[in-house]
Amino acid sequence: MVSVAIMGHGVVGSGVAEILTTHKKKLFASIGEEVYIKHILDLREFPDSPLADRFTKNFDDILNDVEVEVVAEVMGGINPAYDYTKKLLKAGKSVVTSNKELVAAKGAELLAIAKENNANFLFEASVGGGIPIIRPMHQCLVANNVKEVAGILNGTTNFILTKMIAEGMDFDEALKLAQDLGFAERNPEADVEGHDACRKICILASLAFGKHVYPDNVHTEGITKITLEDVKYAASFKSVIKLIGKVKVLDNGKMDILVAPMLISKKSQLANIDYEFNGIMVRGDCTGDVVFYGKGAGKLPTASAVVADIIDCCKHLKTRKYLYWADGTSENILPYNESETAVYLRLSAVDRETVINKAKEIFGEVTVITYEGANPNEVAVATPVMTIQDVESKVALLENDNINVLSKIRIGDL
Ligand code: HSE
Repeated sequence: MVSVAIMGHGVVGSGVAEILTTHKKKLFASIGEEVYIKHILDLREFPDSPLADRFTKNFDDILNDVEVEVVAEVMGGINPAYDYTKKLLKAGKSVVTSNKELVAAKGAELLAIAKENNANFLFEASVGGGIPIIRPMHQCLVANNVKEVAGILNGTTNFILTKMIAEGMDFDEALKLAQDLGFAERNPEADVEGHDACRKICILASLAFGKHVYPDNVHTEGITKITLEDVKYAASFKSVIKLIGKVKVLDNGKMDILVAPMLISKKSQLANIDYEFNGIMVRGDCTGDVVFYGKGAGKLPTASAVVADIIDCCKHLKTRKYLYWADGTSENILPYNESETAVYLRLSAVDRETVINKAKEIFGEVTVITYEGANPNEVAVATPVMTIQDVESKVALLENDNINVLSKIRIGDL
């Protein structure tokens, strides 16, 4: 029997307890012994839980219990998760987590502590919910030089955008629904402002390129400025709008990394990934593109990945799995202004002809986009590819001519 503890009994934590209970036989068969939940840490009371006798409010009950060998940290947030995880690893216990904020902020340090103490620190559930992505990247794709990773990494925003695109639902209503379904973070700003997707692309970039990428060094935009008009213009441009996290390693070794909404061609493999589903494309030099798809949020999909890590730790109690990356700095990141893209611009236009000519004069060969029923006092264009610095200076020229930029969204090349 292997004794485990679960820290946190929220959406994911209760899912972990549920799977360990309902899938007991299946899990027994996979490691040849029982996985026994000895403690569940939570400050709240759960008197009606079938595991009510295992609850504790005291972290030391877990830390000081020599029988507990594997701990699932599913509390979320940096504190006290960081402090607890460090103490557990230093005590030689393996820790698995779904906490992307923790891994993105402290991954290099926690992996180093795990290494020093011959323990495992695994985090499959931190990216892509139920989709296997961490293990495939560091095991199955290890023979590749990964050139680029790009994906839809946040279920909540993808759910909102899908509801807006497919049903014309308004933003706030779609967000409320995502919260009710348990996809959204406790503070949904982390979802809609892109921070959650940023943490996830940082984890994937660190894994792919071996150096920690910190969220503070990554340009991040959310979806709060996307309007139904943008969605309609995008459709007429044979595209959909998706929140994309993307990292590409350039010839000079720098990472071009960002999170932003993008117009994605309907032909792209990422275009039809809807609702709370995530899709992640990994471009390897041997494999070409490999795409991972599945439920990126929700209780049981995420808990399934946590349980898989628990089982992996149970199978490797005496050995350490080699999962490691070194610390990193902003020196490894391309300054955002130097990154290149085409953009979609929605412009105010008292006179359409004049604005189109002005846009052509400033940006060069632009494609004019329209749809039936579009506001006659607006012009939408797609620009050629240029640096963000050039986009910004050209937008300033438009604004000097009293043309308001109502929307500015990158056009992805995925
Ligand atoms: N809030 C996150 C999302 C949960 O919507 O993707 C899964 O990480």
